[in-house]
Amino acid sequence: MNILLLGSGGREHAIAHKIAQSNRCSQLFIAPGNAGTAACGSNVKLDPMDFAAVADFVLTHEVEMLVVGPEAPLVGGVADYFAGRADLRHVKVVGPSRQGAMLEGSKDYAKAFMSRHNIPTARYRTFTRETLADGCAFLDTLQAPYVLKADGLAAGKGVLIESDLATAKAHLEEMLGGKFGAASASVVIEEYLSGIELSVFVLTDDQHYLVLPEAKDYKRIGEGDTGLNTGGMGSVSPVPFADANFMRKVEERIVRPTVQGLQADGIDYHGFIFVGLMNCNGDPYVIEYNVRMGDPETESVFPRIQSDVVELFAHTADGTLDRCTLQVDPRSAACVMMVAGGYPESYAKGHAITLGDDKDDVLVFHCGTKRGDDGTLLTNGGRVICTTALAGSLEEALQHSYARANAISWQDKYMRRDIGQDVLRLM
Ligand code: AMP
Ligand code: GLY
Repeated sequence: MNILLLGSGGREHAIAHKIAQSNRCSQLFIAPGNAGTAACGSNVKLDPMDFAAVADFVLTHEVEMLVVGPEAPLVGGVADYFAGRADLRHVKVVGPSRQGAMLEGSKDYAKAFMSRHNIPTARYRTFTRETLADGCAFLDTLQAPYVLKADGLAAGKGVLIESDLATAKAHLEEMLGGKFGAASASVVIEEYLSGIELSVFVLTDDQHYLVLPEAKDYKRIGEGDTGLNTGGMGSVSPVPFADANFMRKVEERIVRPTVQGLQADGIDYHGFIFVGLMNCNGDPYVIEYNVRMGDPETESVFPRIQSDVVELFAHTADGTLDRCTLQVDPRSAACVMMVAGGYPESYAKGHAITLGDDKDDVLVFHCGTKRGDDGTLLTNGGRVICTTALAGSLEEALQHSYARANAISWQDKYMRRDIGQDVLRLM
């Protein structure tokens, strides 16, 4: 079948790479894609938020499957748009309905969902401008550090963690006053969870589910997890502390109640659930839900999936995921992200990239790249390119991934040198 994948990052390159390996895929289109995805299929100049244009493309090119990479089209209701048009209803859409996407689109909605279905998460309350004084009083009842979250999508910047009470109150006032625009008209205040984070991925067809390989990502720009938050500077999969015992707790306390909760609430959900969780002394607590795969987690999770992903996606859309089993490569995957100097603050675009020689067993996924008019590969974003290696041990995977990353260069390239070191220390 012909398949259209929406998105343009490293996540989409990693998904496209797997889709292209499937013999169920005839033509793969990526909209808008990047210089890397062009090697897996055809890039198409389409805005993923322009649903009418996406629909026209799907009909003209006889696309039978739509895979949605990022959250924005899902929160905007692309799955509902396809379900609502008689001429598009036959298209297999991998991605939840708008209501399902609220799990990511609204922190308050997600927290209420977790309370309703007894899913472990930090104690919280939600405040608006009218209840600012109550918000300050609630902060008085909590211990530092204080966690403030803009309710809506804020490009990954909507969470503030502050150790000083007076400053936390000032932040609350600023957020409710429009610091993140409409996204912070409501603010969730919650208890701080201390522990080590894990990203768990689930594919669900509305009834059944498969738990995909877990991963850990590295969010801060600086080594030792210091400095500003980024989209993610690397990832590893599997994660040694996520042993069978811990993952059983995750499945029993979080994954199953989440899928059953969606059913009980009558929410149509065919797609990925990404559970960001904290391991607090061996017990998992949900920090957030996302309704898509993680980036750069996908770049270490997808290379480990040996099952045919188009098969998995088709069963996800059709509600027959119980017919699938998941084959996973037992080796470790390590992804190292290379970014533009200055990222996540201001940075330059348009520098020429030298890729170096290909190496067996090391994948190179493009994140923010494009071809110049003369075909030169150019940087085109903050996160530019990443390398993923698979090997018998995490240490070896990291070595191979870094060896490949070292051979890639452009002006002011930056990467963290300590991806995976924290989990190696725990082993
Ligand atoms: P979120 O956008 O909800 O994932 O939050 C961004 C980051 O803030 C998370 O990845 C965590 O590192 C941190 N964080 C969020 N909520 C909490 C919490 N309740 N306790 C500790 N850290 C948190
Ligand atoms: N790596 C975290 C995310 O994709 O949100």
